[in-house]
Amino acid sequence: MAPFLRYALCSLLFAIPSLRSVNAAENATASSLTVTPDVTSSMNFAASKWIWNSATATANTFVGLRKSFTPPEGKALIAAEIIFTVYTSLTFYVNGVEIGTGNGPASRPSFARRFCVDLLPSFNVFAFNASTVISGADEGGLIATILLTYSDGTTDTLVTDSSWRVKSGIPLGFEQPSFDDTTWPVATVIGSYAAGAWADVIVNIPADPPVLGLEHTQWIWTDVVPASGTVPAGSRAFRRTFTPAPGQVPGTATILIAADNAYTLYVNGVSIGSGTSFKIAQRYTVNFASAPSEVVLAVLATNTVASVAGLLVAMELNMVPAGRINCTAGVFVLSDNGWKSTKDLIPAGFEQPGFDDSTWPAVVAEVTYPAAPWGTVTIAVPSPPVTI
Ligand SMILES: *[C@@H]1O[C@H](CO)[C@@H](O)[C@H](O)[C@H]1NC(C)=O
Ligand SMILES: *[C@@H]1O[C@H](CO)[C@@H](O)[C@H](O)[C@H]1NC(C)=O
Ligand SMILES: *[C@@H]1O[C@H](CO)[C@@H](O)[C@H](O)[C@H]1NC(C)=O
Repeated sequence: MAPFLRYALCSLLFAIPSLRSVNAAENATASSLTVTPDVTSSMNFAASKWIWNSATATANTFVGLRKSFTPPEGKALIAAEIIFTVYTSLTFYVNGVEIGTGNGPASRPSFARRFCVDLLPSFNVFAFNASTVISGADEGGLIATILLTYSDGTTDTLVTDSSWRVKSGIPLGFEQPSFDDTTWPVATVIGSYAAGAWADVIVNIPADPPVLGLEHTQWIWTDVVPASGTVPAGSRAFRRTFTPAPGQVPGTATILIAADNAYTLYVNGVSIGSGTSFKIAQRYTVNFASAPSEVVLAVLATNTVASVAGLLVAMELNMVPAGRINCTAGVFVLSDNGWKSTKDLIPAGFEQPGFDDSTWPAVVAEVTYPAAPWGTVTIAVPSPPVTI
């Protein structure tokens, strides 16, 4: 088949109007000896659409979303850098292999996840198994941007749009490259990024260096916060365990933290720092020398007198992108009801990674930053990095 015909046929089969060429890196071979972080990555959602199977979502129904891609004749793919977020949860696959999951609170998502994956030279399939917790108009949505890198250093970008195949009620094996989705309907575009019904949804994207703020982070406390907000004086223990997807190795954590009234922060059992102000958040950088399989944040927080009490934490965790040039992988972990706490006596070793917190209840999310009573919090000058 003539190269042009094959390309034209692929374009028809896989309908890739979203494909566009971006900056060609002409010296990939020369640069590939050293891994340098991409400080100028342009990964964003500007050209991506919110898509779903229908403009009116049905709660707790699994929706399959697929995008197949074959490169133009003469090009061989090597890797992809992927950002996505979903309203409200998903599992993500590349060529049938589970890469990661994503889920947020039952509200519009504010945080993206970012992955670096190897690709096959030619045919590749990106697949999502997604669902939402609320039925109704604009109550479900996926947005993604996929930067493809070829062996010659050039790149292409795929975005979520009406060329994706989407089906509600998905058969087993839908994520496999061999699965035939040609009978699936095309996606319903429910909105452009930061426009229309989705105008208020501005998504933070993991970056290198991180750009981390406190917006959309929730003040939390134990499960005994009364309507008045007044809780007894005393110390409480909090924990949040983050387990990276297989193949994702934690590299650096950047953490913002403040407490009303005081805290000590531990990461994987190591004391990182403490603070005594709810108007100033400290900024810590933790470098992981040991490639841990999980990252455990543990906080001892103290309410010095009977009054309102709260803990505010935002972490961006950047992964080591397995020898790749200019690829950033990362995730945000925030104070929310994914944390656990105990109001009982604080057990010895509660800050250690192996501590069993399975009987601890989930915390209460009090208010979203920068709401009252705490208002705006100033971010302090960064503390020197700690290596653990
Ligand atoms: C690639 O690197 C070589 C050696 O450093 C340099 O001479 C050449 O100008 C570079 N080419 C481009 C396109 O940057
Ligand atoms: C990495 O990114 C920098 C900054 O954008 C660029 O100058 C360089 O050519 C890129 N290198 C590769 C191998 O893509
Ligand atoms: C989709 O995800 C849900 C929740 O994890 C799971 O129960 C279901 O089996 C998945 N469907 C397929 C086809 O993988």
